[in-house]
Formats: sequence, C-alpha cells, structure tokens
Amino acid sequence: MHFQLTEEQLMIQKAARDFAQTECLPGVIERDELQKFPKEQISKLADLGFMGMMVKPEYGGSGMDTVSYVLAMEEISKIDASVSVVMSVNNSLVCYGLQEYGSEEQKQKYLTPLAQGKKDGELYIGAFLLSEPEAGSDATSQRTTAEDKGDHYLINGIKNWITNGNSASVYLVIAQTDAAKGSKGINAFIVEKNWPGVSVGAKENKLGIRGSDTHSISFQDVKVPKENRIGEDGFGFKFAMKTLAGGRIGIASQALGIASGAYELALAYSKQRKAFGKEIMHHQAIQFKLADMATKIEASRLLCLKAAYEKDQHIDYTLSSSMAKVFASETAMWTATEAVQIHGGYGFVKEYHVERLMRDAKITQIYEGTSEVQRIVISRSILK
Ligand code: CAA
Ligand code: FAD
Repeated sequence: MHFQLTEEQLMIQKAARDFAQTECLPGVIERDELQKFPKEQISKLADLGFMGMMVKPEYGGSGMDTVSYVLAMEEISKIDASVSVVMSVNNSLVCYGLQEYGSEEQKQKYLTPLAQGKKDGELYIGAFLLSEPEAGSDATSQRTTAEDKGDHYLINGIKNWITNGNSASVYLVIAQTDAAKGSKGINAFIVEKNWPGVSVGAKENKLGIRGSDTHSISFQDVKVPKENRIGEDGFGFKFAMKTLAGGRIGIASQALGIASGAYELALAYSKQRKAFGKEIMHHQAIQFKLADMATKIEASRLLCLKAAYEKDQHIDYTLSSSMAKVFASETAMWTATEAVQIHGGYGFVKEYHVERLMRDAKITQIYEGTSEVQRIVISRSILK
C-alpha cells in the first residue's frame, strides 16, 4: 500500500487549485450574494476537460481516474462550492450514469457533448431528477409517472430541488411506470429541457451554494421516445442507486474541500490575530481546535480517496462512498463552524469567507442522501 499520488494526479490537483484561485475566487462573494450562476467558470472548466473528467476520450471525456476527480473537487470546493456542485452533478451523476448504463446511441448523442460541457460552442450540461415534493429520502415513492405508450412514454409529474435545473440542456428523469412492481416498476429517461410539456419552476432562494441554480421541474404529457429509456424496463431505481453511489464520492469531496478551505483560513488567521498579547494560535484552546480540524480533514480525505480507489479498481464502493459522504459532510459542518469561531466577529461578515463556507457546508449533509440515509446504507451493509 502506498499513499503517493502519481505525477498526473498532482498535475490535475495543481491545475484545479490554480483555477480556483484565479477564476473562482474573484467574484465569489458577489455571486453568492446575488445567487448568480457561475456560467463563465463552468464554461472555462469545460474547456479544461473538467466537466467530463472520468468519461472515456472516445465519448469526449478526459479519461481521468476517480482519484483525480476527488482531488479536483476538493480544490474547487475550497473556494466555491456553487461551482463544484455543478461540476459534481455533471461528472458523477449525469456523465457517469450515461457512460456506465447508456446505450451506444445515447452515448454518441448525449454523453459526448455533456462530457465536453459544450455543444456548438454553448454550455451543455445535465441534471439528475430523482427527488419530488413527496419523495426525497424515500426515493421509491415516485409520484412522477411514465406511461408506456408503445413506441414512446408519456411523462407527468413534478421533480423538486433540481441542481442545474435551469442551466441544464439534458435531464435524467426517474419515473414510475408500474406502481404495482414497486422499485422494479421505475425507469430512468433522457429528456431534453426544450421538449414540449417541460417547464422550469422558480429558482429556490437558498441558505448556501447560492450560485447554483435549484428549481422544480414539471412534466405535462411529455413524449419521450423509447430509445431514451436508460437500460432495461424496470432498471430505473437501480440506475439511480448505483449512480448515486458514485455521486456521493463527488459530494464527499466537495465537503472535504469546504472543510479544508475553512481550516486553511482559520490557520492563517490564528497566526496573525493577536489577543492577550500574543497571536491566538498560542492559546491552547485554538491549537486544539486546529488539531481536531486537521485530523478530521485527513480522515475525510482518506475515506474519499479509498472510495475513489475502489471505484477505479471496480471494487464495490457503495459502503465506502456512504462512509466518505457522512464523515466528510459532518467534518465540513463542524470545521466551518469552528473556523467562524476562530475568526471571532470577523468570521461573521462576508469578506472573510468562512461564513459562506459554513452556509455551504450544510447542504452536504442533506443532498445525495441525508446523513441519516448514509447511515441506513452503512448499517444495512455491515449488518447483512
Ligand atoms: N445498488 C444496486 N441496487 C440497489 C442499491 C445499490 N446501491 N441500493 C438499493 N438497491 C436495490 C435493492 O437491492 C432493492 O432491489 P431488490 O428488491 O431487487 O432487492 C431495490 O433497489 C430497493 O432498495 P431498498 O429496499 O434498499 O430501498 P429503500 O426504499 O429501503 O431505500 C435508500 C433505500 C437507501 C433509503 C434509498 O431510497 C436512498 O438512497 N434514498 C436517498 C435518495 C437520494 O440520495 N437522493 C438524492 C437525489 S440526487 C441529489 O441530491 C443531487 C444533488 O443534490 C446535487
Ligand atoms: P425527507 O426525506 O423528507 O427527510 C426529512 C428528514 O427526515 C431528514 O433529516 C431525513 O434524514 C429524515 N429521514 C427520512 N427518512 C428517514 C429514515 N428512514 N430514517 C431516519 N431519518 C429519516 N434531488 C435531485 O433529485 N436532484 C438534484 O439535483 C438535487 N439537488 C438538490 C439541491 C439542493 C440545494 C437541495 C436542498 C436538495 C437537492 N436535491 C436534489 C434533493 C435532495 O436530495 C433531498 O432534499 C434529500 O434527498 C432529502 O429529501 P427531503 O428533502 O425530501 O427530506
């Protein structure tokens, strides 16, 4: 066992770190305040090959491994988690789901431009539509229906909380075809945003990741050709679960980045701020907070990298991705809160960045399966 990154992985990490500093840091406070979608940043990330990192080059991707993806997600998330969530959804839910389970035609038609993040020079990204007003954690209770009409399906219903809801061109939609069959009656479809019957609801006004656009999406008699179903009839719930196992590595890495971003700011601040005649880093209470932060962040990083390694080695990573997500997201929330504490009153205002990291951290405990859901997955795995 060795803990060394390859030269290529180090290069990708550095490229992401530089990108975050030069392209994401300027304007991050304003984008958060105004809830402005980071279009320019996503477009440049696409040009760098970061929107389809793990997709094979023959489908327009960069052919990188999941370890590199974790490294890049951490670096971008240190500065702007609104940028990294867009990146995470496109890479690990949309592109990964299509590469792994899509047909050859679907890969040619949809995956190739999605992995490039561009089509005809315009931004071209995807969204993953599982959650509904009454089906979040309880994801098998799908109310959205996909009626089998022979050569096509007719989709009706509402999806909630959709990241990239307005900016995406392509939606991966999970819907119920045969309620009597329970989770085996669910299908997944590729739906284009501009098809008749698809409408985008108002943008949510959020606590954190405010630059990302979150919308409800409704479907009224949306005609979807049969060739746009992903996998066999009834594969939709398994598709969602398998894809989410990979997605959770992305969100765990996002949480890791938020935590390490907050820690780096707190560490630097503790070296310059003086109280009681010395820099606050000389007070043991501050030293112990920093020690705990560094330890929890290192543990989070190792869990993320282990899950990524298992995915790259085609070992079942369902358990490790849930462990990484629950631990890293709880570390992010705790670390960012303590980073605000270390900054004192300055931590409570926007220009010191830690208050944003604290607000952004919270969502990592909720989306792609709440911390409680991760504990369900983990306990089922260790008890079986
Ligand atoms: N791989 C393959 N199959 C799986 C699976 C997996 N990881 N997990 C479950 N399944 C299968 C089960 O084996 C079962 O099939 P069989 O009947 O053939 O055995 C079927 O799916 C139903 O599974 P469960 O009985 O375990 O289902 P459940 O109702 O108990 O739910 C759950 C399990 C883990 C709670 C699941 O519903 C879940 O993950 N909920 C959370 C949903 C979620 O994460 N949503 C995220 C939305 S996307 C998002 O949030 C994006 C973003 O913010 C950026
Ligand atoms: P509920 O499922 O109603 O849960 C409420 C509380 O009950 C939670 O604390 C939960 O953990 C707990 N709970 C529920 N069941 C159990 C149980 N069995 N045992 C113990 N505790 C339980 N979804 C998408 O499909 N695509 C997206 O792109 C997307 N992006 C999102 C972006 C944002 C900003 C947000 C806020 C959400 C997004 N979601 C997305 C939805 C997200 O995945 C759900 O909010 C999440 O899965 C939780 O579902 P819920 O909100 O319905 O909460």
